[in-house]
Amino acid sequence: RLPAPFTVPLPVPTPMKPSTTGAGGDRYAMTLRQADVEILPGYRTRIWGYDGTFPGPYLEARQGIATALTLTNALSVPIATHLHGALAPPTEDGFPTDLVYPASLADLADPAKTAAMSDMPGMPGMPSMADPLARTSALTRTYTFPMAQRAATLWYHDHRMDFTGAQVWKGLFGPCVVRDEREAALGLPCGPREIPLMITDRAFDADGQLIYPTSDPTLLGRPDMAKTIAAGAQGDVILVNGAPWPHLEVAAVRYRLRFVNASNARRYELTLDGPADSAFTQVGSDGGLLTTPLTHRTLHISPGERFDVVVDFSRYPVGSLVTLRNTAASGGPGQVMQFKVTSKAGDDSTIPTTLSTIETLTPTGTPHRLVFSRGADRWRINGTTFDPAKPLLHPQFGAVEEWRVLSTERHPFHLHGTQFQVLGRNTGGPGAYDHGWKDTVELSPGTEIRLAVRFDAYRGRFLAHCHNLEHEDMGMMATLSVS
Ligand code: C2O
Ligand code: CU
Repeated sequence: RLPAPFTVPLPVPTPMKPSTTGAGGDRYAMTLRQADVEILPGYRTRIWGYDGTFPGPYLEARQGIATALTLTNALSVPIATHLHGALAPPTEDGFPTDLVYPASLADLADPAKTAAMSDMPGMPGMPSMADPLARTSALTRTYTFPMAQRAATLWYHDHRMDFTGAQVWKGLFGPCVVRDEREAALGLPCGPREIPLMITDRAFDADGQLIYPTSDPTLLGRPDMAKTIAAGAQGDVILVNGAPWPHLEVAAVRYRLRFVNASNARRYELTLDGPADSAFTQVGSDGGLLTTPLTHRTLHISPGERFDVVVDFSRYPVGSLVTLRNTAASGGPGQVMQFKVTSKAGDDSTIPTTLSTIETLTPTGTPHRLVFSRGADRWRINGTTFDPAKPLLHPQFGAVEEWRVLSTERHPFHLHGTQFQVLGRNTGGPGAYDHGWKDTVELSPGTEIRLAVRFDAYRGRFLAHCHNLEHEDMGMMATLSVS
């Protein structure tokens, strides 16, 4: 029932067209809805998607021009949408309790269910739907992103408190890039030679339907993820841009591949067949271009992280099949996708030795400490589980602070509202994958990671959390109050 690897073509996303551009910025509208789509050849899989697609539409933003994204919720559950990597005011940041409600709930088809939702700890009650204006604003929401930030690879996904894992698994995620003129002038591979690659894993039943470990598929009661998934939800099928183990025909030239690990809980150690040395030339991280390119034999990518790399397929003879593999020690599916080098072609791209400038953040003052740990049935930060109303940390706006984040287990640490720099791990310097501006970084077992953090874009309520979505849903989030 599963396709043979490398038989399905890679879907290459093309940017969504704005509905209008002009004084209000670039405007986009999407409806979140259920759809039946072909993921496994010959099967229709029920998904929840932005515009009914898996993944959602590709958003291309321009530095200095606001992106206004109007979302209409045609699903049966509340949603919150976060543009991961965007610098936006707290009102636009998709806080997990800042919900957009579905019309089906607003019409109170099932009052018992809405009652169960609003007595969950920390969950705001359903807004009153009597007033037509209030009703509309609860059902449709425009998020405005100023895009006053450097070029980078972003992605958007659902962030509903307690249900993010289940809702992203169903398909509520999509790619986004921010472009700026400096980057465009560098001469990196572009056009059809620049491709976002969103990697996810999923499990399917014999009918081709997604399997997620919850006993309440409506996702309207209390969250009840199976206790057995302490590691988070993982699947045996690797999807790239929504296609199982796809293949892509490439010319023997340089390609810019923007890897996004959009998996709920799986991390990857990516390798390419063939000469391993400098298989990947990293040009960017979560927060955009590095100062200088870095080469890697393998790419270690945790959930939520982005690696912007150039792969030079002229290293391979025409006719080569080049497999991208996952050699992560945690086991699981070992193949990701395959490139077929089909022809020679001209290549006027370059990888400049200087890509960008990045100021060095030097923290002062007493470090903040965050300890990620396991509780009896919930995951904890500094001994407590997520409380949307009670900030765990009060970062000072504009100050460069040192954050020391410690864990006995592996967790991808993610911060909203800013990009940070990794100062080092334990007593050493940054790891091989820690360079540049980051918003997500892997905490490894028994390691204290030291970060330089400065919130200088917006004040207000943000989040720090584990980007293993099941850990996040089981309490591993902290409210921040930046002032
Ligand atoms: Cu990609 Cu708070 O998340
Ligand atoms: Cu975690």
